[in-house]
Amino acid sequence: MKIIAISNQKGGVAKTTTCLNLAAYISKKKKVLLIDCDKQANLTKNLGMEGAKTSINDLFLKRKFDVVNVRKNLDLIPSSVDFVGIDLLIQGELARESILKKALDRLESNYDFVFIDCPPDMNLVTVNALTASNYVIIPVQATQFSMDGVNIMIDFIGGIRESINPKLNLLGILVTHFDKRLKISKSIEQDFKDNNWEMALFKTRIRRNTAIENSQHKDYRMTIFEYDNQSKGALDYSNLAKEILKLIKNLN
Ligand SMILES: Nc1ncnc2c1ncn2[C@@H]1O[C@H](COP(=O)(O)OP(=O)(O)O)[C@@H](O)[C@H]1O
Ligand SMILES: [Mg+2]
Repeated sequence: MKIIAISNQKGGVAKTTTCLNLAAYISKKKKVLLIDCDKQANLTKNLGMEGAKTSINDLFLKRKFDVVNVRKNLDLIPSSVDFVGIDLLIQGELARESILKKALDRLESNYDFVFIDCPPDMNLVTVNALTASNYVIIPVQATQFSMDGVNIMIDFIGGIRESINPKLNLLGILVTHFDKRLKISKSIEQDFKDNNWEMALFKTRIRRNTAIENSQHKDYRMTIFEYDNQSKGALDYSNLAKEILKLIKNLN
């Protein structure tokens, strides 16, 4: 079972979109679990599962949880609005960083892949996600890019590796909202070269694509493959999934 966190302390960089569509593509052939760790519950809403009986809250507070089946081969641990403040509630507990890890240890043989959608914070919930994971993907938004933000994330991941989870690897940095007509999109690659991080960039970039936005509109709430399998978004996310599967195979 490979556990992959999608994390960035910034909002709007396509963490949730990436989680959803990678999981959707990979679940065509493999068993996948999605975990929504964001109190905004966008992933849960995108899958039409808000108000589900079980939630990530039960996992963190009662150490008990259920999954909901959302598609063939695809299950979800939903989030809910009462997940707000959970990092403060678990603050005083023993082994507070590894609550999610312990829960996932019990799943061992049920899934091939687990994708964790992280909140736009560096709180105890994010620490739990990174403690439970083998890999982390950092999406960065091409239209609002800051190398400082990337460095903060990389340092944070390094800290988790050293102190709690030596198995954690940066799987890659993903450029999202890419638009080749914009100067800022073009300069990103150079920024990464200048900082010696270009090796960490995924070859696949996710282009800005209105089909992606539309697919998540409340009237549709579909994966990009269900909404428009011929869209640029569907092509980019299928290429990313293939790149990731290959990368993980070569790393093991
Ligand atoms: N490639 C893209 N092209 C256009 N819109 C996108 C793309 N990726 C994500 N979006 C939109 O950007 C917004 C933020 O994406 P989201 O995945 O929710 O980010 P995060 O989870 O990091 O906050 C959403 O409205 C989403 O539909
Ligand atoms: Mg999100």
